[in-house]
Parts: sequence; C-alpha cells; structure tokens
Amino acid sequence: MTLDVDVLSDVATLNVDGRELELPLIEGSEGERAIDIQRLRAETGLVTYDPGYGNTGSCISDITFIDGDAGVLRYRGYPIEQLAQQSTFMETSYLILNGELPTQAQLSEFKDQITYHTLLHEDIRHMYRAFPLSAHPMAVTSAVVGALSTFYQDSLDPLDDDQVEVSTYRLLAKLPTIAACAHKYSIGQPFNYPQNDLDYAENILHMMFSTPTEAYDVNPTFARAIDVLLILHAEHEQNCSTSTMRMVGSSQANIYASASAAIMALWGPLHGGANQAVIEMLHDVADNEGSGKAFLERCKDRDDTTRLMGFGHRVYKNFDPRALILKEAADGVLRELGRSTQMLEIAQEIEAQALDDDYFVSRKLYPNVDFYSGIIYEALGIPIHTFTAFFALGRMPGWIAQWREQGKDPAARIGRPRQIYTGENERQFQPIEQR
Ligand code: CMC
Repeated sequence: MTLDVDVLSDVATLNVDGRELELPLIEGSEGERAIDIQRLRAETGLVTYDPGYGNTGSCISDITFIDGDAGVLRYRGYPIEQLAQQSTFMETSYLILNGELPTQAQLSEFKDQITYHTLLHEDIRHMYRAFPLSAHPMAVTSAVVGALSTFYQDSLDPLDDDQVEVSTYRLLAKLPTIAACAHKYSIGQPFNYPQNDLDYAENILHMMFSTPTEAYDVNPTFARAIDVLLILHAEHEQNCSTSTMRMVGSSQANIYASASAAIMALWGPLHGGANQAVIEMLHDVADNEGSGKAFLERCKDRDDTTRLMGFGHRVYKNFDPRALILKEAADGVLRELGRSTQMLEIAQEIEAQALDDDYFVSRKLYPNVDFYSGIIYEALGIPIHTFTAFFALGRMPGWIAQWREQGKDPAARIGRPRQIYTGENERQFQPIEQR
C-alpha cells in the first residue's frame, strides 16, 4: 500500500490491493492540510486506526486556531494575548459565540440576557441535599447542569434556533450559580443568590465567598484575575471535553445533556482536573519530596505512574501561550495580594529543571495552562476541589459555540467511530455444566 500526496493537484493517491483511489486534500485558512477520507471505507473496505484521534480532524471549524509548534492560540482570529489583556470574559464569550467582537449595544444586550437568567429555580436548589457533603463540585455541577433539561423542557430542541439561543443564555448565566452552590453546600454554608448589579466575575466571587452575616466587598484585583482566567479557558478547539460536547450533541441530545457530559470529561486529571492535581503535586513536593529534582526523577521513571502534572500537551509542542500569561499573572497577583510565593517558587524551580532535562526536552513537554492557574486560584482563596469547576465556567462559551457550529454544519453526522476487532472468532456456546 502506498499513499502519495500531490500538492499541485490537491489530491492524495492511495494505492491499495492493486487499486488506486484519489482522496481530496482540504486546506484550512491557516494552511493546515488534511486528507479527506470520507470515501475510504466505501471504496476500499479499509478504515483508519488513530488511537486518541491525534491525526484525525473530526470537523471543519471557524472558531479557534492553534499552532502548537509556534505556541499560537487565537479565538476567531484574535490572539489570546490581546484578549487576555484588553477584553473581558463577556466580550470574549460574545466573540466566540457570534464570530465578531460586539458593538457596545450588542454587548449590553448580551449581558442583559445573561443577568436575566442567573437565578436557579428553587427546586433545583433542593437537589444539592441529595449529595454527600464530600461530593466533588464537578460531579454535582454536571448533575445539576444535566437536570436543567428537566426544568427547561420548553427549550430542548437542538434544531430550533430560538430554543438554542435561550438555552445558551441559561447555561452561561446559571453555571456560576450552580458551581457556587456546589461549593457552599460542601462547606455547610447557605447558598447565595446572584446579584445582577455585579459583573460576571464579581458575581462568581460574591456567590462563592459572601455570607449572610458579614458584608463582602468584591476585591477588584480578584475579579480581574478571575476574568482573565475565564478568558484563557474560554475555548480550545477539539479537546476531550469539547469533543464530548460535540459527540453527545451529534445524537441530537439537548444542549444541557451535552454540557453535563462535557463537564464530566473535563473533570479527568489528564484534562481540566490537572489544575487540582498540579496544586496537590506542588504541596506534596513542599511537604514530602523536599526538592523538585527528586520529584522529577519519579515522573521520568517508567515503573512509576507519577506524571508531572501541568506539563505536556497533545497539540502544543512548545510553550502553551496561556501558561506564559498565567506565569506572569501569578507573580503579579501574589505580590499584589501579599500572599506567600512558596508554591510559585516550587513551580518555577520544577519548570526550570524540567526544561533543562533531556526527558522533557526531547518529548517537547512544556508547561500547559494548568501549571500556573492553580497557584492563582489558591492565592484568591478558591478551594482546591473547586479549581476545575472554574475551568468549566470559562470553557462553557467554547463548548456551546462548538455545539452550535456542529448543529449548522451540513456535513455533521452522528459521531460513530469504527474499531479493529481483535477478539475471538465465532465459537459455539457451551451450557454451563459442560464448561
Ligand atoms: N510527565 C511525564 N511524562 C510525560 C508527561 C508528563 N506530564 N506528559 C507526557 N509524558 C511522556 C509520556 O510518558 C510519553 O513518553 P514515552 O514516549 O516515553 O512513552 C510522551 O511524553 C508522550 O506522551 P503522551 O501521553 O503520548 O502524550 P499525549 O498527547 O497522549 O498526552 C497529556 C497529553 C496532556 C495528556 C500528557 O502530556 C499529560 O498527561 N500531562 C499531564 C496532565 C496535564 O497536565 N493535563 C492538562 C493538559 S492541558 C489542559 C487541558 O487539556 O485541560
């Protein structure tokens, strides 16, 4: 079997079993090329084998561009660095969902729609009591987001644009309330109602930290730090949770069901759960390992399952640009708040040692977004088990935009990969007494 790619005629020619098949090449707006294999199985009986989908383009998308070798990330064409510095999470969410930056009027209308929907139905609030106090906020958040499909049965049709629109606002508006209630429940404090005169990040902090007994003034440094973190997490093309959102949505399951599944996918420590795992790792190094160097030896040891959490990425083979922004932001936030820099120092030491070590260098393992984010969350007083819920708050506009894009894509079909079966060939059933 051979596969020849002819750049000039934009086809790849596959020679297999004495047959020749021309497969079209498609090219994205940044020059990334792909072989379109949609006719492959029908014409040759062959399927492709690509565990983890590292070489598979599952869709055509206009939303996010990543150049993993150059460390570039752009939402709708805008560099992440510019958005983190100059935009707000609400404006960036509008951009991701609608493709263009809003005018002042469009942004006001968008924010009005979101603040209108921040409140939870009182019966949803009762759901929390069914969970043990020790429940992880990601499990609770996913369950409550899934349950929105029981409270909003008027807007479950994925083919109805108006229903999708109102569900978009509901998800973006209610997720902070849902996640904050999960936190409050876990520490035995009363739930806070949202305050719609606060902006998105301020409202999150109010719902997380205020109590009925004392005045709580939102610290603007905290709020801006949260807003930047949300912007950096807002979208990241076809990662595990976004692919889950699309996969579930591809069966025409409603948007709440799809988002609930995406939250579960994000929870895993190889994905969004890494932000919790990183801070636990840094504390472990501080308390037990003594030095980052000894810890790195364990990460390199093939007989040890320990990984350097917050390092490595499927797409970035260079610095994750989000990690660069967060490293600087962590330094600024800790200094501004006068917090201990011990975790940051340990992280910086580990990073320097890893980037001077052939194991990490040869595998192109660099800090990813989760390496420094937990240090900021911790400095802001966010409990460790809630870090990944903050990632979910940030990622929601990206999940929704990808789900909506798929809904409008004429090429989209139900997600249904093939497999290469390696089990038993046909055999005859033996009654139990004869085995
Ligand atoms: N520590 C030690 N070794 C690593 C690490 C790590 N963090 N990451 C990858 N490797 C090694 C891996 O053992 C393998 O080595 P070898 O070739 O000798 O078998 C090689 O590097 C390639 O790794 P891989 O597992 O094939 O890479 P992948 O693209 O399948 O996985 C990853 C990507 C992010 C899951 C992985 O790098 C990892 O587990 N990192 C730690 C968890 C983490 O920080 N996740 C957050 C990712 S970014 C934000 C997000 O997605 O939520």
